[in-house]
Amino acid sequence: MTEITTSRQGQTLVISFNRPEKMNAITRSMYAGLTQNLNDAAGDFGIRCVVLTSEGDHFTSGNDIRDFMSNPPTESDSDVAKFLGALLDFPKPLLAAVKGNAIGVGTTMLLHCDVVVASPTANFSMPFTSLGLVPEAGSSMLFPNLVGYQRAAKVFMTGESFGADEAKEMGLVATVADDAFAEAISIAEKIAAQPPQAIINTKALMKAGKHDAVAAVMRAEFEIFALALQSEEAAEAFMNFMSKRGK
Ligand code: COA
Repeated sequence: MTEITTSRQGQTLVISFNRPEKMNAITRSMYAGLTQNLNDAAGDFGIRCVVLTSEGDHFTSGNDIRDFMSNPPTESDSDVAKFLGALLDFPKPLLAAVKGNAIGVGTTMLLHCDVVVASPTANFSMPFTSLGLVPEAGSSMLFPNLVGYQRAAKVFMTGESFGADEAKEMGLVATVADDAFAEAISIAEKIAAQPPQAIINTKALMKAGKHDAVAAVMRAEFEIFALALQSEEAAEAFMNFMSKRGK
C-alpha cells in the first residue's frame, strides 16, 4: 500500500496520505490501509502516539468520488465504516497535521483526533449536502456539540469552507503553525514522554461520555448516507464533478 505510508519518529507512528496527484482522495483500499495501521498501532506497545499527515499541498479531498460511484459503500462492514469504527475506538493519542484542503471526511476525521495542528494554508469543508449526501463520522452530532447548532447548520447546509484561524477559534484545531507537521511531532513527543497508561486512561475518560452516543449516530448516519449515495441528487452531483474534469 503506497497510497498510505507509515514511518516512525521515536515512539510516534506517522501515517501519511500519499496520493497527491488526486489531492489525496481516499479510496476503499486506502481506508483499509488506514484501519490496519490504526489497529496495529493500538496493539503495539512501542507506539505511544499517532500523527495523521499528508504528502503534497493538501491533507485530503475526502472520499474518492469515482471509487464511491463504482463501489458505493452500502454495507455496514464496508472499508469506510471499519475505518470510522477504528477511529472512534482508537485508544492512544491521535494527532493530525493539516495543510491545504481537508474536505469531507478530511474534516470529520479531525473531530476524533486529540490534537489537530493546522498550517495557515488549511481549508476545511464538509460539502456533504452539495453532493446530495449527509454528514458522516459522527459529525452530525460532534460538530454542533463543538461549535453550536446554528454555526454547524450554516457550515453543513451551505457547504462553505473555513480557514485555519476560524477552525482554531471553533476548537476544531488546537494550534496554527507554519510547519504543522513539525509542531504535531513536537507535541506527540511531549505526550510520548508522559506515563503511557495515564495518557490512555485520560483519553478514555475524556471520550467515555460520548462514545456510545457517537457510535449510535454513526450507524444512523451510515444508513442514511448509503441511501443518499444511490439517490438522484448524489448521481447528479457526482456526474457534475466528473464532467467538469472531462471524465
Ligand atoms: N475524488 C476523486 N478525485 C478527486 C477528488 C475526490 N474527492 N478530489 C480531487 N480529485 C482529483 C481530481 O479529479 C483531479 O484529478 P484528475 O486531474 O485526474 O481529474 C485531481 O484530484 C486534482 O483535483 P482538481 O479537481 O483538478 O483540482 P481543483 O483545484 O480544480 O479543484 C477541488 C479542487 C477540491 C475543488 C475539487 O477537486 C473537488 O471539488 N473535489 C471533490 C471534493 C469533495 O467533494 N470531496 C468530498 C467527497 S464526499
